[in-house]
Amino acid sequence: MELYKKKNKPLLVTMALPYANGSIHLGHLVEAVIADVFVRAQKMTGRDTIYICADDTHGTPIQISAMKQNITPEQLISKAFDEHTRDYAIYGIGFDKYYTTNSEENRIWMEKIYGELQKNSMINKKTLQQFYCEHDKRFLPDRFVKGDCPKCGAQNQYGDNCEVCGASYNSEDIKNPKCSLCEKEPILKDSEHFFVDMKKEKDFLEKYLAQSDVIQDDIKVFVNNWASDLQERCISRDEPYFGFKIPDTKDKYFYVWLDAPVGYISSTQKYCDEKGIDVNKYWNENSDCEIVHIIGKDIVYFHALLWPVMLKNAKIKTPDSLFIHGFLTVEGEKMSKSRGTFILANDFAKKVNHSFAAQYLRFYFASKLTPTVSDLDFSMDEFINVINSTLVNNIGNFCNRTSTFLDRFFESVIPDAECDKEIERQSLEFTKKIIEFLLQRNFRAAIDEIRNLGSMANKYFQDEKPWELVKTDLERAKKVMATCANLIAVLGVNIKPIVPEIAKTLEEQFSENFVWDNANFNRRNKKIAPAKKLALPLEKEMLDGLYEG
Ligand code: 2FM
Ligand code: ZN
Repeated sequence: MELYKKKNKPLLVTMALPYANGSIHLGHLVEAVIADVFVRAQKMTGRDTIYICADDTHGTPIQISAMKQNITPEQLISKAFDEHTRDYAIYGIGFDKYYTTNSEENRIWMEKIYGELQKNSMINKKTLQQFYCEHDKRFLPDRFVKGDCPKCGAQNQYGDNCEVCGASYNSEDIKNPKCSLCEKEPILKDSEHFFVDMKKEKDFLEKYLAQSDVIQDDIKVFVNNWASDLQERCISRDEPYFGFKIPDTKDKYFYVWLDAPVGYISSTQKYCDEKGIDVNKYWNENSDCEIVHIIGKDIVYFHALLWPVMLKNAKIKTPDSLFIHGFLTVEGEKMSKSRGTFILANDFAKKVNHSFAAQYLRFYFASKLTPTVSDLDFSMDEFINVINSTLVNNIGNFCNRTSTFLDRFFESVIPDAECDKEIERQSLEFTKKIIEFLLQRNFRAAIDEIRNLGSMANKYFQDEKPWELVKTDLERAKKVMATCANLIAVLGVNIKPIVPEIAKTLEEQFSENFVWDNANFNRRNKKIAPAKKLALPLEKEMLDGLYEG
């Protein structure tokens, strides 16, 4: 039976580039897990697939944060890079390249794209009035202006929205404005800025977004509304700024949101240079590569509108799909520092007292992910329950029972017997569905089928009673145990994209490197390694202190 159709087109998958001035938290991990499981499932089909990411290193917050710490922005982003790569590694996120947007490659691509936008008369100049702090000698982005809400009067609100009444407004309308750095009153000052004339690409965007795979249906209306009312987009920032200078200007920089997505290309470039591949394989306008950006629902505008416009003008390939996910809540509420539910990736791995904490979190997130933009919740009780009921008591239990039995009665050799055809057929049916769901990024459905496969395996062992058969019908016992041994490997193959470290125990047991083609029942008369517990239970005490600062 054919388990999947191998695609020959190369595939490039990205996740959103995390900002260098923050640590990786559980919200970042949701996205990293979506991309990683998807990439692993693709690679297991033998498809030429790469997973690209980088740190997003530019912008005012990074410049100010470095200034406050008395270090250079370069030092700040270098420290962040080390932390971020360490944290993703803990969770087994297998990037093919993790790079930085503060690279020469990125500057060159940014300038090239900008040059093409200029050539196509897509850039306009206009003078804007903005808050300027004469003490700090800088223009103040919205989040660096504080004041009283023009609607409800609440004090100490940010320059663009009020956390008390929820109003959003222009920062010039805020009452009693203050610079959040020095508390002094800013003045309004003129500055010339550069804008992308998005309206000119209305037809292009409408056609592009109408393609069925570009964005999920549940967000189409929302994006189409933007596309029907395109506004020009400011792409410049004044000094002091940490970023790339705009060519032929004295003191203007590209806004961080312009060079951030260019990081997708420049990181691919770095990957290609290291491998001796031509980057055109992926990003050339006529490339047959499939490009998928995995992003959160908060950054759809940039990816669905500005980014395709930049690429189209520069004759670079536009993404085939944006895969948009919702936000993570913890115990039903927005992650919050004061409630202790703003959990950093590194803290989770340290605080959850289980050697598979990181792999368990991957499995739990996957068990909740569907291809929609709905939010998903982390709940401690549910986490424990999902892990124990599926990984430990269902799959783990079957693997342990079978392996221990093989050790005891067959000296850890898979009996030289033909497998049970009906079990083989059903297992392959399950595997086929699991692959399909994983490739559609419907991980919840894939895990439902993995659970069904595990239940079927347990039932088979229980119904066949090999402990009686070894005494009454040795030939039948051999058949049953050959089937069960192969079922362990098939389960191992199926869980590998989701929990690769846990699957590794089984790969070592069978001396195999699992890809989908290993989901077969061809093993007979094969010596395997003795049983090793696959997954130990997760106890409530192991999570004590997770929400304590
Ligand atoms: O929202 C964010 O965290 C941004 N750093 C994402 C950038 S994604 C891409 F465009 F680079
Ligand atoms: Zn100031």
